[in-house]
Amino acid sequence: MDKIEWSDIMNTGNVEVDQQHKQLLDIINKIQESIHNETQIYEIEPIVLILIEHMQFHFNTEEEIIKSLDIDENIKELHYKEHREFEKHLNILKHDIENKEYRKVYAVERFTELFKYLIEWFVEHDLKSDKPMFLNDK
Ligand SMILES: [Fe+2]
Repeated sequence: MDKIEWSDIMNTGNVEVDQQHKQLLDIINKIQESIHNETQIYEIEPIVLILIEHMQFHFNTEEEIIKSLDIDENIKELHYKEHREFEKHLNILKHDIENKEYRKVYAVERFTELFKYLIEWFVEHDLKSDKPMFLNDK
């Protein structure tokens, strides 16, 4: 897994959303770097918990902004649903960290796998859901 550089293609057109996306990406890259450097799992866990907190805060911010957009209500509902679905994965991650699941045998591989999913979701959601939605605002 390589570091993800912020690219202008990821701009949604909403300054606040873009700013938070960049912050999220910074934390994601920090975790990515720690995994790459084989940092001890107990040192990575707190950073992941910070990421989870930031993502939840970000969803709240984004949804407040979405409410004010002049777009189809169904698109809004679908977007909220995407966030809720992803939160399920964040909750699993959080639960497993709190229960020290990643400190067991092969935990790093399992952790890396789940984290890879998280990164892919983030980039895909930005490009395929957030961006088209903000661009659609009349
Ligand atoms: Fe979103």
